[in-house]
Formats: sequence, structure tokens, C-alpha cells
Amino acid sequence: MGNLRLGLVGCGAIAQWHATALQHAQRTTVTACVDVVSANADKLAEITGGTACSTIAKALEIGVDALAILVPHHLHEDLVTQALEAGVHVALEKPMAPTLEACERILATAARHPDRVFMLTENAQYWPEVVMAQKLIAEGAIGKLVTARSWHNFGITPEFYPSDESWRFQQSAAGGGVALDTGSHWMRPLRMILGEIDEVVAVTGRLWEKMEGESMVRSLCLFKSGVVASFDVILATGAVGLQPHFQFTGTTGEIVISALGEVRLFDGKDWQGTVVGRGNYMDSYKGVWQDFEAAILDGTPLAADARYSLGEVAAANAIVRSAQSKKWEKVW
Ligand SMILES: NC(=O)c1ccc[n+]([C@@H]2O[C@H](COP(=O)([O-])OP(=O)(O)OC[C@H]3O[C@@H](n4cnc5c(N)ncnc54)[C@H](O)[C@@H]3O)[C@@H](O)[C@H]2O)c1
Repeated sequence: MGNLRLGLVGCGAIAQWHATALQHAQRTTVTACVDVVSANADKLAEITGGTACSTIAKALEIGVDALAILVPHHLHEDLVTQALEAGVHVALEKPMAPTLEACERILATAARHPDRVFMLTENAQYWPEVVMAQKLIAEGAIGKLVTARSWHNFGITPEFYPSDESWRFQQSAAGGGVALDTGSHWMRPLRMILGEIDEVVAVTGRLWEKMEGESMVRSLCLFKSGVVASFDVILATGAVGLQPHFQFTGTTGEIVISALGEVRLFDGKDWQGTVVGRGNYMDSYKGVWQDFEAAILDGTPLAADARYSLGEVAAANAIVRSAQSKKWEKVW
């Protein structure tokens, strides 16, 4: 039992991942599981020990100090506003909202409740291999950064794309394609290590007819530092190979993060490089909840404030604009 009573609003695919991670948040107890589909709420209630219900109002009656909003993108603004106005702490899944205007409205609502923590749960902020690479690069392990590469290829799974009617295929619900959705988890590490992006140039593709947004992005990001990184996301139609997630090239060496969680430093000592650490993407979700409970219970600043996540929304927008204009597009 912990000190923070948390309600999960939206008991779908990611809620199950969060429920597993929450077992490691020692001071958080899930007390309510809210879903408009009662079977989904019941399933999460069984996993977490919380009480199933169908509205935020019911969750407040059950007793919550904080709510995690884990619903499709077009519902974020309404539900996060309800939660913030109810006076509880809020953790909201990425992207904050499908448009920057909606994001600003949400941030304005959060600003009216400064004594409540509002977190945007971009789990990549806590991705162990990324945090390791960030530290090594800051310590000068590969000299000055020259360029970087980010690669995310994945397939359609029943877990996240349960049917042809999945909200992720619909522009009106998802607000975009893979750049806005899963791409954020690969964009955040680039921003953590390279800083802010100035411009992007991109080509996008629709590999899946049933998906209204783009299912493929091949792009270059020019960072304000002058460094250029490639950013590729492919929702493949077939099997995918294991490519490194990230490659950071510096003036004296390289760091490669493999798809299997290995962080390998190439610093000239061994042509095969040296494995300097191993991590696990799934552990990034533990970091989310440890950060959230520390922010609420100890007053510790979040690893990244919610506004920081707008950088991923703006970059995704610029990618889509560039694919249409066939030109470099400013992110802001
Ligand atoms: N961090 C990550 O790695 C990651 C991975 C997947 C999804 N996500 C994000 O999580 C969010 C949810 O995605 P998902 O894949 O779990 O979707 P999902 O469709 O599997 O689950 C959404 C759930 O919300 C419920 N719901 C819909 N309207 C509701 C309402 N008004 N009140 C309560 N519940 C409601 C649905 O019934 C469903 O159970 C999205 O923002 C998505 O981008 C993040």
C-alpha cells in the first residue's frame, strides 16, 4: 500500500503496461479503473486491485489523489480538463493533444492549478539505454556530437491495432500518423541529447490503406546546434529486422543503442566496441511512475515539464508539412 491513490482513466492497451510498471511504484496504489467499456475496466481492476467504474466522477467518489489519462488522442483535452478541474494531480499520455492549440488550452488549465502536478507521460524520458547514452555523451565519451540516427520499425499488433476500425487509423481520433503517435518515443531521445530542432525535411508514405495518417516517415532533423539527425519511423506491412534504435556519432567515437537494449561505445579501443550497459525499454514505464509519485509526495521537479512535450508535437506537424511542401519546414 502506498500514499498516493491513483485512478486509471482508459483501461486499454497502454493501461496494462502501466499497471505492470506501477507495481514498482512503491508509494502508489491504484484505487479506481475507469473505462466506458466495462469489460476493460473490470480487467484492469482485477490486475491492479482498483475498483472498476465508468466515469471520472465515480473515481472521485471512490477516492483518488491523481488520475492517469490513457485514452485515444481526441479525448485527451476533455478528460484531462475534467481531471484538472476536479483538483487532482494528472498524468496524461502522449501526445498531449492532436493540435498545438489544444495543447496550449490544456497547459492553460493546468496553470490554473499550480499546486497540482501535471505530467505528460513520455516514457522515453526514462528509457534506461537513452539515459545511459545521454550521460556518456555529456561526459565527452564520443567527443563533440557530429550527427545521429534514430530508427523505429514495428508492425501492426492486435494489442494496439485491434481491428480495422481502430482509432489509430482515423485522422479524426489519432490526429495524425506515426510521426505524432509512436514516433514521439524516438523523437524525445534525440531532443534530450541534441537539443531543440530547428527544421525538418521529410518524405512520408501510407503503407496501410486503412490508415488515414502516414505509416512511414523518412526525415532529416536540423537541430539548433547545427547537428543533423535522421529520424525514421515505419509501421511495416511485413516482418521487420532488428536495426539499432539510435546511433550517435561524435568527433572521437560512436554510441549505438541496439534494438535488444545494448549500449555499445566505439571509442577506438576495440573495433567491436565495448558494451557499456544494457537496458530494457519496458523499464522506462517504471520511471514514469517513480517520477510522478516523487513529484507529488516529495515535491521533486519532474524530469521534464509537460510543455517540453510540445516539441514532439511540433516536430510531427513539421514532418507532415514538409512531406506536402517537399521543402525544409521550421518546427516552430
Ligand atoms: N507510452 C507508450 O508507449 C504508449 C503506447 C501506446 C499508447 N500510448 C498512448 O496511450 C493512449 C491510449 O492508447 P491505447 O493504445 O491504450 O488505446 P486503447 O484503445 O487500447 O485504450 C483506450 C481505452 O480508453 C477507453 N475510453 C475511451 N473513451 C473513454 C472515456 N471517455 N472514459 C474512459 N475510458 C475511455 C477505451 O474504451 C479503451 O479501453 C494514447 O494517448 C496513446 O498514444 C502510449
